[in-house]
Amino acid sequence: MVAKDKRKQNWGASSPDTKGTSGEKPKKVAVIGAGTIGASWATLFAAKGRQVNLQDVEEERLDQALKAIISNLKFLTESELLNEDSTSVLKRVHPTTDLSLAVKNVEYVQESAFESYEVKKELFAQMDSICSENVILASSSSGLLMSEIQKVAKSPERCIIAHPFNPPHLIPLVELVPGKRTSEETIETAYRFHRMMGKTPLRVRKEVPGYVANRLCAALWREAIDLVHKEIASVEDVDLAVCRGPGLRWAFMGPHITYHLGGGSGGIQEFIEHIGPTFESCWGSMSSWTSIPPSALKKVVKGLEEEVEKRNLEELARWRDAKLVKILKTISDDSPFTQ
Ligand SMILES: NC(=O)c1ccc[n+]([C@@H]2O[C@H](COP(=O)([O-])OP(=O)(O)OC[C@H]3O[C@@H](n4cnc5c(N)ncnc54)[C@H](O)[C@@H]3O)[C@@H](O)[C@H]2O)c1
Repeated sequence: MVAKDKRKQNWGASSPDTKGTSGEKPKKVAVIGAGTIGASWATLFAAKGRQVNLQDVEEERLDQALKAIISNLKFLTESELLNEDSTSVLKRVHPTTDLSLAVKNVEYVQESAFESYEVKKELFAQMDSICSENVILASSSSGLLMSEIQKVAKSPERCIIAHPFNPPHLIPLVELVPGKRTSEETIETAYRFHRMMGKTPLRVRKEVPGYVANRLCAALWREAIDLVHKEIASVEDVDLAVCRGPGLRWAFMGPHITYHLGGGSGGIQEFIEHIGPTFESCWGSMSSWTSIPPSALKKVVKGLEEEVEKRNLEELARWRDAKLVKILKTISDDSPFTQ
């Protein structure tokens, strides 16, 4: 079993860890798919001292990813999170379009290609046939089931989901979700690897679509969309209601502890008795659709354009990252419930 005391949060990039998961010699990792998530994983792994083979089927995506990595490293340096010269970190990233080359002699693979069973199964079949049996094959998937993906592998026991939150080089959580045929050893090794990379790994005990964190996000997001669709609040006001309200607490305590503190001397039990009926009336009046109504989508897109005004995606990402670092610096010494 994974020891709970190893879960102390150790976020972001700091001094390079140049040892492998077994602790002896410098190791290489591969990141397959160089989009939003792949570029961010590559930033983290390189900043933590790994040699990183970064592979994509499109040259152009590799060029874009390198630009993103340079920008991420500059940001980490400015935020005093990177102790090493960013040029030497960047030298550890090796872009290629050749999958066989990318996964050769690596200890760990983080697949971050498109979110589809078709794409992931084809990639896992290829990687499984090239990599030796002790190499962990992890997928960044946001909600697909490893039990399905690993069907194509001859060594399914080394396949696991390692689901990050965007951007993985800043947000500590990584959900480790085994498939039916994933071995205990793989879970443990992936856990140790991600701890070494400064992540907060969470082992999901049963395989469900979306795992834990995205299921929570999905519940909130459906209601956020519905409030806009029913014109109860604007896109901007729904976002404000989260960020200036409960979201402030969620950075360091989850819903269970939050409501434990809302129940007075009786804690969660008293909260459920007193405020429970209010929540029940909310649940009773909420929508339960399972695909976004097209008219809701239109309203959300329009409302979002008004909310962000003329700020482009790059500006917004920089703003997000700067805020994230401030929050992480505030909570990093204050996470007793994850220790
Ligand atoms: N974007 C997010 O917020 C987020 C968060 C957590 C997890 N994820 C997951 O991470 C994965 C990647 O998402 P993303 O947002 O980076 O997508 P993206 O579209 O930005 O990048 C995907 C990349 O994979 C490449 N690719 C496609 N097929 C390939 C193949 N066969 N071999 C190699 N490269 C291939 C594409 O060229 C592209 O560059 C998905 O599984 C997604 O669900 C995304």
